[in-house]
Amino acid sequence: MNSLILTEDLDANHIEEILNRAQLFVDGLIAPKLEGVISNIFFEPSTRTFLSFQIAAYKLGLHSLEFVTDHSSLLKGESFRSTLKTLEALGVDVAIIRHKADWTELLCNFKTNMSIINAGSGVKEHPTQALLDALTIRQEFGSLKGLNILIAGDIRHSRVARSNITMLTRMGAKVELSTPKMFYSSDILNIPWVEIDKGIEYADVLILLRIQKERHDTIYDFDFYHKNFGLTEERLLRLNKGAIILHPGPINIGIEICNKALNDPRCRILKQVSNGVPIRMAVLEKCLGGLS
Ligand code: CP
Repeated sequence: MNSLILTEDLDANHIEEILNRAQLFVDGLIAPKLEGVISNIFFEPSTRTFLSFQIAAYKLGLHSLEFVTDHSSLLKGESFRSTLKTLEALGVDVAIIRHKADWTELLCNFKTNMSIINAGSGVKEHPTQALLDALTIRQEFGSLKGLNILIAGDIRHSRVARSNITMLTRMGAKVELSTPKMFYSSDILNIPWVEIDKGIEYADVLILLRIQKERHDTIYDFDFYHKNFGLTEERLLRLNKGAIILHPGPINIGIEICNKALNDPRCRILKQVSNGVPIRMAVLEKCLGGLS
């Protein structure tokens, strides 16, 4: 593997290998140093993914260059393909790309010796988020096999939902989805749907998704959403005692999640953020040839 564009390209062995390696970083058992240059090319805002790739590169001894999209020659009409070719010619080894469009087909067909990592594309893919979610779950339960995982929220607009469905089912978890009709999506109707009030009683993992207002073309009643579909204080009391709560962030407090849930002992949202660094170290290492 020298690129990571689609979650489905990771088989169970690849996933285990990356999670095992990331866990060694978490436990402080290895500190390899690599050579190379990475470039973060982000056309959409990001805090966690952007900074965790920067920190991962720093810890691995890699040089990191931020590609400032608003000051690049893209504004002079240079195509994205030409831009990538230019970065390759400049000596960039890994291009890490986030874009609001689903550019995965373009990226998969792009001929380059540079590694490409998908840091979020459209509503379809966010493979490193799925990896860090899998690591967070595995740290808690030892394995993902047989776990009941409930994904609840704005599924229609969520690349995290789609990458997680691929990753978690591949690792043997039982995934169910919960969302109101307005956030349904016909491309994932093969995954069982459940009422949130039922699903929270037996879920081992509750993954809440952000309501992605910036992708909506209709104005929704978010108070109604919270009351009927969000993790309210009342649902927090009924959530399976042994469950953990995940959310990829950023969170909308009072919409998909109540404030109280952030301080609940079952909440692992900041653990997810921390796990972003070792996962991205393992992915960078793998893309640069450090792993099989
Ligand atoms: N989870 C996630 O992708 O967060 P950022 O948008 O802050 O990178």
